[in-house]
Amino acid sequence: MPEWLKDAIFYEVYPQSFYDSNGDGIGDIQGIIEKLDYIRNLGCNALWINPCFDSPFKDAGYDVRDYKKVAPRYGTNEDLFRLFDEIHRRNMHIILDLVPGHTSEEHEWFTESRKIEPNDEFKNRYIWTDSWYFWGLDGLKFIAGEAERDGCYIVNFFKCQPALNYGFLNRREKWQLPPDHSDCIATREALKDIMRFWLTGDGVRGCDGFRVDMADSLVKFDDDKKSATSAVWRNIRSMLDAEFPQAALVCEWSSPVQSLKAGFHADFLLDHGNSGYRSLVRDYENGGTDNSYFKKNSNGSINRFLDQYLPWYEATKNDGFICLITGNHDTPRIGHCLNKSETALAFAVIFTMPGVPFLYYGDEIGMSFLYHLPTKEGSYGRTGSRTPMQWKPNTHANSGFSKAPSEKLYLPVDITQNAPDVETQEQDPTSLLNTVKSLLHLRNSETDLRSQSNLIIIHAPGSDSGDRSFIYRRGSCIAAVNPGTNEVNVPIAINGKFKLLYSIGNCGLENGNCRLESQSFGVWKAE
Ligand code: NOJ
Repeated sequence: MPEWLKDAIFYEVYPQSFYDSNGDGIGDIQGIIEKLDYIRNLGCNALWINPCFDSPFKDAGYDVRDYKKVAPRYGTNEDLFRLFDEIHRRNMHIILDLVPGHTSEEHEWFTESRKIEPNDEFKNRYIWTDSWYFWGLDGLKFIAGEAERDGCYIVNFFKCQPALNYGFLNRREKWQLPPDHSDCIATREALKDIMRFWLTGDGVRGCDGFRVDMADSLVKFDDDKKSATSAVWRNIRSMLDAEFPQAALVCEWSSPVQSLKAGFHADFLLDHGNSGYRSLVRDYENGGTDNSYFKKNSNGSINRFLDQYLPWYEATKNDGFICLITGNHDTPRIGHCLNKSETALAFAVIFTMPGVPFLYYGDEIGMSFLYHLPTKEGSYGRTGSRTPMQWKPNTHANSGFSKAPSEKLYLPVDITQNAPDVETQEQDPTSLLNTVKSLLHLRNSETDLRSQSNLIIIHAPGSDSGDRSFIYRRGSCIAAVNPGTNEVNVPIAINGKFKLLYSIGNCGLENGNCRLESQSFGVWKAE
């Protein structure tokens, strides 16, 4: 386990939309460098940047054309190495976005592989059927009628993203290679080569690891335990342990019991299906009444989250971390459901739980989900969470994001009246930005609130009790939240005196009683 990851608080940067330093309407690497002190002052000490590699951008960069080249619109490889250096000089860390499951259809591996007679090296780099099909294929998505080669290829996500070939565990057809076939091993080794390239750096120290896209998607027709895909990752992890022991692997898998055993150090808890995480801040996505836990006037209980989270936490706490996110580039912004005070309570819990937290750019000021925007580079329903960062009030050109004419912006800025911005919120001690800063300061200054200190649930009532509070212990600290409308008084069977470290709203912990007024949060430490 990389030492630095234990104390990491990540800030996710969507490079297109963070800060445009050269006035061409799109964010860039120099722009990230110019805002590093802002991120550091917020209390974050690590960055994840979404794919910044050469790409036709049909899926915003998750369709990589050249894994070893920075997309010209963001700068050059030298700029990225300079970013690494600036990050390390600030004692921060950075993980890049690694897309191991598919490439762009314009990647040179694929343009070779699709030929009538591809060379041996790339013939099986992707998954090709041995002749043409036009009917469904056991749940695989395949594209027919596009390539010169006599066959169809499998895609992982959009049509532009052919799936790389890591083999099939349960093979049903001759063209489905076993995972230990030399061509599938060659795909894995090619991935390691890309990882080594960025981890090694060039004259400066390289990156500090990767966020891995769709990490569970590698071997097809895998078993329920994802045994074969896990074996690929364990092999890659051995390489990291031997060559880059301080490199972190964080995955998009959302099944920590599997992924942390597969060699990942951390896994995101995402919005998928009946995820308990979604019940905290985005319950409307489950359909029906919105009973998001942090909504004041809902009937949501914390138990919908804990029922999923706790067994996972208990099973994995010695192996690695579960990552709670404020949102990401695929989710609606948290403010789509919660108002400012509800959001502050959600952040208070997210930032005082175990694991490694991730803050999505703009969430710290409560940027809105601009859901009316049309799709951009394959974003579809996700566009509204990817708009330019609002550095200044929108009475300033492009809210301080870019000096380009506004029609040249990657996506429009939020022009609604009173749209939040960094400059205004920095002046206001009661702003969401300052609340986030103080919460991150609290986590950074109190070891017991960090990733590894044990979590014990003290109080988590069901939804029909009228009590919507949640009280938990982290080492010598007790944290309590009440997002609901009623004040609650909860007897706490813990002896000793506690001093208040932090609070939102009115609450107290005295004489074995925890008093939580409506919409309050507190953290106390044993004296
Ligand atoms: C997950 C990424 O987060 C998403 O943005 C992307 O479209 C898909 N994977 C495909 O790579």
